[in-house]
Amino acid sequence: MDNIKNDTLEILLSQDEIKAKVKEMAGQINEDYRGKSPVLVGILKGSVVFLAALMKEIEIRCSIDFIAVSSYAGASETSGIVKMIMDLRESITDRHVLLIEDIVDTGLTMDYLKDNLLTRRPASYNICSLLSKPSARRVPVDVKYLGFEIPDKFVVGYGLDYQEQYRNIPYIATLKPEIYRRNK
Ligand code: IMP
Repeated sequence: MDNIKNDTLEILLSQDEIKAKVKEMAGQINEDYRGKSPVLVGILKGSVVFLAALMKEIEIRCSIDFIAVSSYAGASETSGIVKMIMDLRESITDRHVLLIEDIVDTGLTMDYLKDNLLTRRPASYNICSLLSKPSARRVPVDVKYLGFEIPDKFVVGYGLDYQEQYRNIPYIATLKPEIYRRNK
């Protein structure tokens, strides 16, 4: 059978591990944002699975919005150039903004968005990311809510893609080397 799970090599984080962590992170957000009605800003497309899971565990009043940026253009290495593809629908002026990201790698995306979004004068601004690769960082990023630190390996699943595929794998995994060779 043509099952995309057969293309994975090593499971770095299982569904159960992620589920428990998401619950823990939401618990902290519930406490910190009580009475603040934050806007959760999901960064498309990678954050959608994480955002959907996280918001179901958030019990305070909140809204969601989306922003799309690109820095990879289908490759597995960042181009270093971040581009805004789609802006927010709503104003964030005087709102408590919690940016929801799948993974902080070089930090360039977060750096770009911070500069851009802070000019709109939100009441507060924090970053929540499921994953971080600290050893790949090119610019410092302050991630207030972090799920897991992972080694500097390319991973897919739980919203993260390789050439727009594998976002629907429910765990975080590496891919078999032949998948990259096939796509060269
Ligand atoms: P940064 O700007 O280098 O921090 O990269 C952030 C974006 O690159 C993330 O939102 C992901 O979309 C993508 N990215 C970074 N590392 C990986 C990975 O291991 N797998 C899939 N996408 C990744």
